[in-house]
Amino acid sequence: MTDTLTIRRPDDWHIHLRDGAMLKDVVNHTARQFARAIVMPNLKPPVTTVAAGRAYRDRILAAVDPALDFTPLMTAYLTDDFDPEEMRRGKLEGVFTAAKLYPANATTNSAHGVSDVKHIHGVLDVMEDVGMPLLVHGEVTHKEVDIFDREAVFIDEVMVGLIKEHPGLKVVFEHITTQDAADFVMEASDNVAATITPHHLHYNRNAMFEGGIRPHLYCLPIVKREKHRLALRKAATSGSHKFFLGTDTAPHAIGAKESACGCAGVFNAPYAMESYALTFEEEGALDKLEKFASVNGPKFYGLPLNEGTMTLTKKDHQVPERMTLSETDIIPFHAGEVLAWSVG
Ligand code: NCD
Ligand code: ZN
Repeated sequence: MTDTLTIRRPDDWHIHLRDGAMLKDVVNHTARQFARAIVMPNLKPPVTTVAAGRAYRDRILAAVDPALDFTPLMTAYLTDDFDPEEMRRGKLEGVFTAAKLYPANATTNSAHGVSDVKHIHGVLDVMEDVGMPLLVHGEVTHKEVDIFDREAVFIDEVMVGLIKEHPGLKVVFEHITTQDAADFVMEASDNVAATITPHHLHYNRNAMFEGGIRPHLYCLPIVKREKHRLALRKAATSGSHKFFLGTDTAPHAIGAKESACGCAGVFNAPYAMESYALTFEEEGALDKLEKFASVNGPKFYGLPLNEGTMTLTKKDHQVPERMTLSETDIIPFHAGEVLAWSVG
């Protein structure tokens, strides 16, 4: 049995670092585990200009513990009227690594998102031209579509056409939750890849209602049926270059989650690698963890692989029941559980 595993230092290709008082603690939880991270732009107001992206990056860098080596990779928040030349400038000036497509009102702080992809073809042409990946929250938002079907419907209604119209555009289908999305990405060209979160690998929709409603497992896209969880585990651990690590870590205060209208998001940054290691071990695929966590992402983005290493040890690790970020109490992913792997 393997009891230590040393891999190239991993990156997180999808995180929400938040802003203000909470930023410092959130970013350092990520920086302890990951060398780089793709930072989502859904602040209030969202990051829609090069100046806002640069200022947010400065705030993040000022908040990182100087003993940690961490590079935030910034993203632009697409809106219906995003200026294509602003996007080009963001890339050329080294501020934006990628841009995020939130369908309007799909999730937290997405009210300014894109109402119809037809409005952003000009920006997508520029992104295709400069080799900038489009990161997609892949859910339709029509109220009449069942929440558990929104990702599958998005593939047919939006994703297929988008890829056909922009065959040279790199597209990351973010935080996929269904077998439909895993199959779609597998069959698409090498310009299409996907991120997979730890929580979608661990939980199905029954877990969200086990013994009562469990608001800390509520995230978007919502966890799905068991057959989808199994398909995601197969995709993540397959060794395919199309799937890579993206935690979608998204902290919300306990009160905002345990409420009559609770927020979506799981705070998994502090124990993300321990959590992924469990899944890969359970699937008999620890030898594939490095590709998923440290190789496939940078290769897709056209970035160098990290030089350093991370060692995971088979050693029990108690996850606290709650954590405090600045003055905000949060329930982390795996709260109160003992995980069988530890970093370091
Ligand atoms: C994210 C958040 O809270 O910012 N929530 C979530 O459930 N994943 C937004 C998002 O990525 O959808
Ligand atoms: Zn997210």
